[in-house]
Amino acid sequence: MKWFSDNVNVLALIGAAAIIILTVFVAGKYIRQMKTDKSTGELTGEEWDGVGEYNNPIPTGWGMAFVGTIIWWIWYALSGYPLWSFSQIGQWNEETQAYNKVFQKKWANADAETLKNMGEGVFINNCAPCHGITGDGLNGKAQNFMHRFAANQVLDVIKRGSAALGDTKLNDGKGQLGYALGEMPAGMASGDMAKKIAEYVAGGLKGKAPAGFAACAGCHGQDGKGNGGTAPNLVAYDQTLVKHVLAHGKRGIIGRMPSFNNGILSDIQKKAVATYVDTLRQ
Ligand code: HEC
Ligand code: HEC
Repeated sequence: MKWFSDNVNVLALIGAAAIIILTVFVAGKYIRQMKTDKSTGELTGEEWDGVGEYNNPIPTGWGMAFVGTIIWWIWYALSGYPLWSFSQIGQWNEETQAYNKVFQKKWANADAETLKNMGEGVFINNCAPCHGITGDGLNGKAQNFMHRFAANQVLDVIKRGSAALGDTKLNDGKGQLGYALGEMPAGMASGDMAKKIAEYVAGGLKGKAPAGFAACAGCHGQDGKGNGGTAPNLVAYDQTLVKHVLAHGKRGIIGRMPSFNNGILSDIQKKAVATYVDTLRQ
């Protein structure tokens, strides 16, 4: 198709050419005028560092255009293209909401296998950029889902408390993950005992608990499963844990994991990704 076979195109091009010619002409006129113009008129009498102001009335055309614009805007907002009228974005939002409702309903009772498959999709899109396609945490930059913890991670939390990470400290008492118990205090164990506890936790709490673990059990439960949701589960990525992490985000070596409470993921997708993440544990 040749460009001149379309009337609208031709009109738009003529318009564009007219605007360019007009701009060059008007700009030229004013630049020339600036070189020769002498100021005339009455001063207001006020002066700021030698700069005065003329007491000129507003040009009639300018004033009319100003008032006209306001009137036009009122007309446009109320009647020309009312604020509440149809919009494509509005339609898209409505349709997405309606679809999400159907989606939530359809999968409300999805079985574990379905959730796992759905979760894998969510994971690859939203989590893999930081946690790695296989969930290995990209060499310790984000959480490695192959296990719950590495021993040095647990040791770090025992020594410096749950808010500690790198050289920074949150210390707002609320804890990073927003559990009812808030922040975990530093120094719950020390020396060899701390190391033994860390290895026991990293090993998935198998075998006989070291004596010092009693201090942890008070909050995390004897089985380490989080005492009914008051503290994080130290054994598995259960729904409660992942829900807390997705709601609050978490700071790590590569920076902060963002909160996912912004509507990107529906509740069922969050449930699905939690199911999937826990299947990666070996
Ligand atoms: C921008 C990078 C980033 C993205 C995207 C991201 N994470 Fe994270 N995630 C992190 C970091 C960093 C940590 C903290 C690691 C640490 O504690 O050292 C983390 C930790 C976690 C933990 C462990 C929390 C804990 O306390 O044990 C879970 C579970 C988790 N992420 C799940 C997810 C899920 C599910 C998604 C996708 C919906 C996701 N993450 C997306 C960076 C990210
Ligand atoms: C006073 C209650 C309390 C005690 C005692 C306690 N914790 Fe915690 N722990 C918590 C809370 C609450 C969190 C979550 C903190 C947050 O949200 O930042 C946590 C977090 C953790 C984490 C990080 C979990 C995660 O998902 O990032 C580890 C590991 C941990 N605790 C291990 C231990 C060990 C080991 C002991 C015993 C030496 C212990 N805790 C004692 C309350 C406690």
